[in-house]
Amino acid sequence: TWTMKGFIQEAEEAIRRQVGEEGRVICGLSGGVDSSVAALLLHRAIGPRLQCIFVDNGLLRQDERAQVEALFVDRFHVPLKTVDARERFLEKLAGVTDPEKKRKTIGREFIAVFEEAAREVQDAGFLAQGTLYPDVIESVSYKGPSVTIKSHHNVGGLPEQMKLKLVEPLRELFKDEVRVLGRELGLPEEMVNRQPFPGPGLAIRVLGEVTETRLALVRRADAIVQEEIRTAGLYTELWQAFAVLLPVQSVGVMGDERTYESTCVLRAVTSVDGMTADWARLPYPVLERISTRITNEVRGINRVVLDISSKPPATIEWE
Ligand code: XMP
Repeated sequence: TWTMKGFIQEAEEAIRRQVGEEGRVICGLSGGVDSSVAALLLHRAIGPRLQCIFVDNGLLRQDERAQVEALFVDRFHVPLKTVDARERFLEKLAGVTDPEKKRKTIGREFIAVFEEAAREVQDAGFLAQGTLYPDVIESVSYKGPSVTIKSHHNVGGLPEQMKLKLVEPLRELFKDEVRVLGRELGLPEEMVNRQPFPGPGLAIRVLGEVTETRLALVRRADAIVQEEIRTAGLYTELWQAFAVLLPVQSVGVMGDERTYESTCVLRAVTSVDGMTADWARLPYPVLERISTRITNEVRGINRVVLDISSKPPATIEWE
């Protein structure tokens, strides 16, 4: 009979068989569930011969980099190299407003940064990826916006160019099985249950040009959304909840001053697989807290609007 403990043991053995006694494996961490679970499994199998790489592209959520470092370095003692590429991404994104161009720019830069970091890992022969079974069977059928970045996420092109062989220890698993596996491997609950976060990060939640200032606005608004959704006990019920910064300013009032500042959208959806989604009927008190906090605490945003569109015809993300 199939058990998770049995799976872990077999997966470890399979990794050791594939990688051999000396092979070193590079694993890109994204901060998401799949790559985290893949990394922990590999670490159990080959210990210090695993080298994780985490790219800080400047498009992450509040505290995300620190959380990844605390978890992998402090808690699990996994070899991790963080690459601070914030400026590089910002420079590349300057003046870019078209959504697809943003994604391509980010995808290209990610590969360049990752490849540079990977080249510095001596004797690496393998690249690990958190590919799941649905990714394996479904890679042709879905024509949504994430297709473009599936390649970004999977570091497309890199293994061939660097002559790395792929290690995909999760390729027989579904998402819910990955979560069970993550728990079994000691991944904390807040990581196991994490809502999806797109590879291009906050860049596709800043409509219009991505600047440091505008990223900071959406990051602070998003942190408030995350906090209030968790406090309300709604985090695991929702597929996603987040803030989007619009390239729209409107008139407001603060004290006896007129303001002319940015508008932020609250997007919260329920979904089973992300392919279709319904807008979440959040309780009014939660909406009120989020709106009040964002407009009070985030200087530069004076209006919060609610997205009540389902997918289709809207998508979950705005870009
Ligand atoms: P859409 O906006 O297409 O999103 O309805 C469906 C789900 O996919 C996520 N998403 C992405 N994930 N890279 C990712 O890794 C991407 O480029 C990307 N675009 C969208 C989105 O957050 C939602 O959960």
